[in-house]
Amino acid sequence: MDDMRNKNENNKNTINSDDTAASESQIAVHWKEEAFISPSVKFIAQANMADPNIRERFKVENFPECFREYADMLTWDKYWHTTLDTNNPPFWRWFTGGKLNASYNCVDRHLAKYKNKAALIFVPEPEEESHIVITYQELYARVNEFSALLQDFAELKTGDRITFHLPMVPELPVSMLASARLGIIHSEVYGGFSGQACGDRIADSGSRVLVTIDGYYRSGNLIDHKVNADIAVERAKNLGQPVDKVLVWRRHPGKYVSKSSMVKGRDFFIDEVIKDFLGKRIEPLPLPAEAPLFIMYTSGTTGKPKGAQHSIGGYLSYVAGTSKYVQDIHPEDVYWCMADIGWITGHSYIVYGPLVLAATSVMYEGIPTYPDAGRAWRIAERLNVNIFHTAPTSIRMLRKTGPDEPKKYSYYFKHMTTVGEPIEPDVWKWYYEIVGKKEAVIVDTWWQTENGGFLCSTIPALDLMKPGSAGPGLPGIYPVIYDENGGEVKAGSGKAGNICIRNPWPGIMQTIWGDPERFVNTYYSKYNKNKASKDWRDWPYFAGDGAMEASDGYYRILGRIDDVINVAGHRLGTKELESACLTVLEVAEAAAVPVMDETKGRAPAVYITLKPGFEGKEQEVTQKVISTIEKEIGKIARPKYVYVVPDMPKTRSGKIMRRVLSAIPNKLDIGDITTLANPEVVEKIKLLVQEEG
Ligand code: WTA
Repeated sequence: MDDMRNKNENNKNTINSDDTAASESQIAVHWKEEAFISPSVKFIAQANMADPNIRERFKVENFPECFREYADMLTWDKYWHTTLDTNNPPFWRWFTGGKLNASYNCVDRHLAKYKNKAALIFVPEPEEESHIVITYQELYARVNEFSALLQDFAELKTGDRITFHLPMVPELPVSMLASARLGIIHSEVYGGFSGQACGDRIADSGSRVLVTIDGYYRSGNLIDHKVNADIAVERAKNLGQPVDKVLVWRRHPGKYVSKSSMVKGRDFFIDEVIKDFLGKRIEPLPLPAEAPLFIMYTSGTTGKPKGAQHSIGGYLSYVAGTSKYVQDIHPEDVYWCMADIGWITGHSYIVYGPLVLAATSVMYEGIPTYPDAGRAWRIAERLNVNIFHTAPTSIRMLRKTGPDEPKKYSYYFKHMTTVGEPIEPDVWKWYYEIVGKKEAVIVDTWWQTENGGFLCSTIPALDLMKPGSAGPGLPGIYPVIYDENGGEVKAGSGKAGNICIRNPWPGIMQTIWGDPERFVNTYYSKYNKNKASKDWRDWPYFAGDGAMEASDGYYRILGRIDDVINVAGHRLGTKELESACLTVLEVAEAAAVPVMDETKGRAPAVYITLKPGFEGKEQEVTQKVISTIEKEIGKIARPKYVYVVPDMPKTRSGKIMRRVLSAIPNKLDIGDITTLANPEVVEKIKLLVQEEG
């Protein structure tokens, strides 16, 4: 195969010309092209989208009006007059003139037909605890009551920001929908992030209210979560953002499980305050389509996380359309996405997408292998889940811990999704054969926090599946691969390059919260040739991923080309890791690089040098580095290796050669090191890395 040959050569020529760097796509493994697999006749017969004419409807000549089809899946208080306003590129405005409410679309509008249907089923991690089934009627009541509390007790109004630091509990979607009802912009910080990381995000978004919970279960432990709120509030205060109210849900209402004390006048138990609001109703506000719905922070090339700002009308239309056509969600389906709502996948495909289509969305609190490798399949069997959605990391973990477990349970999946990382063909095949029992169709969906919804994937009833490849651009998405110099890589040539999207789409973020310049620079400057142009054709969206397109039009994603490492589907900035290391007193220099990991796909490895006088303290400093990273970012960022090295390999101009540091533990060719200022250090580092295993 053409695309398999000379992988290093391809990468060198087309991806990341800065050869001091090391990116995920540079360490990507190029597996061989796989044969196509057809979806089952049974699946096709019931699919929401089995009409090949869809590609005709969404062809470029019909852009942007084709996206009316998605917006028409929503209920509008006022219909829009302009589908796409391109007056101020690349700040696209979708469905302008239109008014709607996301909470109304996900809850109220379903009551007439589905009020007694389960909207959410919460599965607690302790298996002896009962499930919590929240019908659409019950969700309506809870959302209204919490919305009233936010308005009258927390004194929040349209356009204010609110930060949630919540794990996988039903109070999280309730909090999201309650905010959306009033146009309060929510910013959920993944529950596994540290208090410090949460504080940074509170400050950036300018939230004066934090919503948290006392504790939650994970891996059999009741985690004390409220302690993080105290750290977060302190951090935000130091960054100039006071938090005047901390609203605390309790995992077991009435019973406080955290060790941290409640600060008088600042901290309030929601189960107590809400007593004043029981039975209250709040009219969902008709809001402009382009008003922000939420902010979701993600990592980028600098140490500062960026807040992807998503709109109400565009975002909700795009998740409705893709949930219907790609996830194949019907109201009668029981849909389970194992992602965390703290990430974009959970926002789009646990909360907003499934609920806007009146599905039953399952939420699971804990880890899928607790208390044993059969747990996930027991949940599927008991709840009769028929659509399943997860990431390669979880699939690898489930396969490793219980390769034959799925066979022991009688569940039937019609559809399965994989998202977040490249999936190796043999992992894909286990998913297909063992988990999906050769009946479920699989979609490998490629997209990002910034994108709102899927960009590349097969349409499950229309396209054949190809293990290891995401698939073509979805309807209305026109991908293109560029080389470093802005030249188009020939379509279907199998050559690696930088994947971009030629056109705007309704789910694209509106801007980076508070930093429009960074938005333009990060996603558009690289390939825009005319800054004055108001034609969307001049503004391709630069995704930051390496990819190649095979002759059949399917895209294979290789991984990030920038300073981001995708660890178990979680995005981490190498600069964030490095700046955490540099807060350790003894550390002089730090470099973080991606290394291959059997389960997580990629993991961070950190190299550090010590300041003079600390020789012999390697062990101690290593521990300090690990605990500092956990404290500053969270446990998810824990490095797989910490190497204390005598010196960093550097160019003559003093830049650390991360490319070399990454090649060593990944057992790749180190390449030319003759241009290094200190080539002799490479051998020493190699020995050190070997010793560490
Ligand atoms: C990677 C997650 C290969 C990619 C929805 C992207 C993937 C980053 C896939 C975004 C896939 C996502 N195949 N790689 N199907 N899906 N990625 O923002 O590198 O958490 O840039 O959004 O995950 O991660 P994020």
